[in-house]
Amino acid sequence: MKGYWRLACCFSFLPFLCPANSSFTPFSEKTALLQLKRDLSAAKPESSIPLQPSSGSLLTSWKPNTDCCSWESVNCHEVTKHVIGLNLGGHNLSGLVNSIKFLNLPYLERLNLVNCTIGEIPSFVQKLGGLVELDLSINKIHGKVPRWIWLLESLVYLNLSNNFLDGFEAPPSAPFLSSLTSLDLTCNLIEGSIPTLPISISFLSLAKNKLTGEIPVSLCSLSNLTILDACYNYMSGQIPKCLEALGDTLIVLNLRKNRFSGLMPWKFTKECSLKTLNLYANQLTGKIPMSLKHCKRLQVLDLGDNQINDTFPFWLGVLPDLRVLILQSNSLRGPIGEPLTSNDFPMLQILDISSNYFTGNLPLDYFAIWKSMRIKLNNNMYNMLGQGMIKNI
Ligand SMILES: *[C@@H]1O[C@H](CO)[C@@H](O)[C@H](O)[C@H]1NC(C)=O
Ligand SMILES: *[C@@H]1O[C@H](CO)[C@@H](O)[C@H](O)[C@H]1NC(C)=O
Ligand SMILES: *[C@@H]1O[C@H](CO)[C@@H](O)[C@H](O)[C@H]1NC(C)=O
Ligand SMILES: *[C@@H]1O[C@H](CO)[C@@H](O)[C@H](O)[C@H]1NC(C)=O
Ligand SMILES: *[C@@H]1O[C@H](CO)[C@@H](O)[C@H](O)[C@H]1NC(C)=O
Repeated sequence: MKGYWRLACCFSFLPFLCPANSSFTPFSEKTALLQLKRDLSAAKPESSIPLQPSSGSLLTSWKPNTDCCSWESVNCHEVTKHVIGLNLGGHNLSGLVNSIKFLNLPYLERLNLVNCTIGEIPSFVQKLGGLVELDLSINKIHGKVPRWIWLLESLVYLNLSNNFLDGFEAPPSAPFLSSLTSLDLTCNLIEGSIPTLPISISFLSLAKNKLTGEIPVSLCSLSNLTILDACYNYMSGQIPKCLEALGDTLIVLNLRKNRFSGLMPWKFTKECSLKTLNLYANQLTGKIPMSLKHCKRLQVLDLGDNQINDTFPFWLGVLPDLRVLILQSNSLRGPIGEPLTSNDFPMLQILDISSNYFTGNLPLDYFAIWKSMRIKLNNNMYNMLGQGMIKNI
């Protein structure tokens, strides 16, 4: 019968005969939502109270005799009236495993189940061919990032941060189409090495997991990558030289608190777009790559707590936006030297060069340039001229 109506609608010149395609959401989708509401109220009373006040209470606007497109947290397609957006963020859905599992909303494009205390990725998501945004952050999802997630061709945004995921199912071996640009897996328990990821990704956070192994060369083929955050993991080996191929697109590279060793292998070009380079607390050796002076947009450079063996990188003074320069706890040596121009490090606000082997006088001329400065210099072999004006922090 339903099929007949659909067919009739396709050829009908009488739009009022065609509720499904004109002014009303298909019955089945509205029913699915009402069932969900019933399940929510039937579950423990406290679970129907949203965890976050902003998400509205008890889905009071979900009334059977009203158009579900007007309901709070529900979005419909303008023309087809299919339910394309659902935001249940903050509702405790932990008692509703089965009602969520098979939710009959096949046209969903945006699904937000943030902070819903769910323990798994609901399986109906697997069938949502049109899904564009999926936010399941802040839940209790265990297990592995499923292989099928990469096969959702329309998916652009995937947020699984703040869960208990511990790895990846083997990614699809054949090349697959993907539209994924944002992948957030921050704060999980992911072990092993970084798998091959869709090359469309531009935002990638794997921060605060238990990743080991080297950065795979496949990561360098993510040619649109602008943000790479893998801080607080246990990755090791050399940072691959091929990453320099991304120097012109990367804006943030954060590898803080890993176990990377060896040289910083890069040659940055004049097109360098980095704003943040954070390599704090690794085991990097050698010199600070002088090509960093090409990174004119650099605001934060944190190379602290490594084994860098170099002299003071006065040549970074040409960077017009550099605000934070942290070189603390390395093997930097020698004199700081006078500023080259009266405009060296014009924006610097935080300078930490403590625990190195700098010697000689700290040129006072710098203090005339640095106006909004916090500075940390201790544990060097300074002859602290004008010490009175230097506050250690
Ligand atoms: C998630 O819900 C819990 C429980 O109500 C609440 O305390 C917490 O603030 C929420 N977290 C976020 C990030 O909204
Ligand atoms: C969510 O509901 C479950 C059972 O329905 C309950 O055990 C749990 O304490 C609730 N969690 C929060 C944060 O309210
Ligand atoms: C992912 O979700 C977390 C928590 O809800 C949020 O703080 C973070 O900004 C989200 N990530 C992205 C890329 O939007
Ligand atoms: C990179 O981004 C551009 C512009 O958004 C897009 O046209 C191109 O397809 C993307 N490349 C990949 C590999 O996804
Ligand atoms: C640091 O560099 C200097 C000069 O290049 C060299 O003589 C010295 O052996 C290096 N020290 C270490 C620990 O690598």
